[in-house]
Amino acid sequence: MNLLELHLHQFRSYHESVFRFEPGAIHILEGANAQGKTNIIEAIAYISNLRSFRTRNLRDLTEHGQPSFSIDAVCEHGGIREPLRIYHEAGKKKLFRFGNPVASFSRFVGTLNAVLFSPDDMMFFSGAPVLRRRFMDTELVKLSQSYTSALRASQKLLKNRNALLKKKQPEPFLLETVTEQLVDTQRTVIRQRQGFVNRLNERLREFYPVFSGGTEHLEIQYRTFVDTERNLETQMKDLYRKTRERDLRFSVTGDGIHKDDLVFLLNGYPMTAVGSQGQKRSALLALKLSLCSIIQEKTGQYPVFLLDDVFSELDPVRRQKLIDLIPQNMQVFITAAEPVQADFGNRMVCVHHIKKEINGKDKQNESQ
Ligand SMILES: Nc1ncnc2c1ncn2[C@@H]1O[C@H](COP(=O)(O)OP(=O)(O)OP(=O)(O)O)[C@@H](O)[C@H]1O
Ligand SMILES: [Mg+2]
Repeated sequence: MNLLELHLHQFRSYHESVFRFEPGAIHILEGANAQGKTNIIEAIAYISNLRSFRTRNLRDLTEHGQPSFSIDAVCEHGGIREPLRIYHEAGKKKLFRFGNPVASFSRFVGTLNAVLFSPDDMMFFSGAPVLRRRFMDTELVKLSQSYTSALRASQKLLKNRNALLKKKQPEPFLLETVTEQLVDTQRTVIRQRQGFVNRLNERLREFYPVFSGGTEHLEIQYRTFVDTERNLETQMKDLYRKTRERDLRFSVTGDGIHKDDLVFLLNGYPMTAVGSQGQKRSALLALKLSLCSIIQEKTGQYPVFLLDDVFSELDPVRRQKLIDLIPQNMQVFITAAEPVQADFGNRMVCVHHIKKEINGKDKQNESQ
């Protein structure tokens, strides 16, 4: 999969800018601080996930003083060129594929699949479990329609169940029915989350030792409220029967996939307890490379790989290892404040000099 064109209109610091990108190449977005490099990465990631990794407020994405923004992209997958468009105004998002409106989020998300590494990801290990659940959900939603349906249904059923629990005396039959449906949809989510983690672990065994010099191993454990080795349906039904009174007392569902988490073990110890900054960064890079490999395996195509500020954080040896690990035909975008000193072998490298527009006038962003 490749991004061929990107047209930003009133997006962040870009009033009106067009970028063209070579398929399969390594694109370096080079420029001083605050010139708009991450803004480009953010726009690409936004097309992929329909969510910004820097803000939850879409107003932040709109150029200051403007009422709307749009991102137009041309992506290529399996030899097909597909125009994509996102238009945002007054809290409303309109999505288009091939110029036609797309009604549902799930029919747009992942059309351009991008995998992102950002320095902000360093919170990934120590932050709240929601970050790690979001990681699983963001990726699985792009890969599996059945996951998307089961996840959305579970979220809705959980809301319904909680609303029932808040009533003084909920109809027992209704509570039972909602719980049964919840068990059913959660089963699909748990199976797919476990399968995803298993595949990530297989890839991590290959990628992580490259960064650590082969002396360490990294493993992810998927933690959910039932034992994934045993029958999920029976366990969930038993558990919800046993915890029914407690849930009624607290007016909330205490157990479920909404509490799932991932635990990262470095040589068998929790990453949060033993990991150095460098080990965490290496683990994240290995995780993202593993993800790229899984996406290729599942869809037949590599995603677009976005590396924001990765080089300033790595020593020259790890930097070179990362470049060597990037698959031959995967299109990559790397931001850097200084010229990148590394050996790219026979890879096509395009350097884009990024400079902020001054006084509203477009200053040409040149490529070489
Ligand atoms: N909504 C917005 N409207 C106008 N300008 C914005 C908006 N949001 C951010 N900016 C501007 O964008 C610039 C920051 O862009 P970006 O984060 O892409 O920088 P960068 O090149 O990645 O810098 P660094 O090397 O420091 O990471 C800042 O000048 C900021 O003022
Ligand atoms: Mg930046």
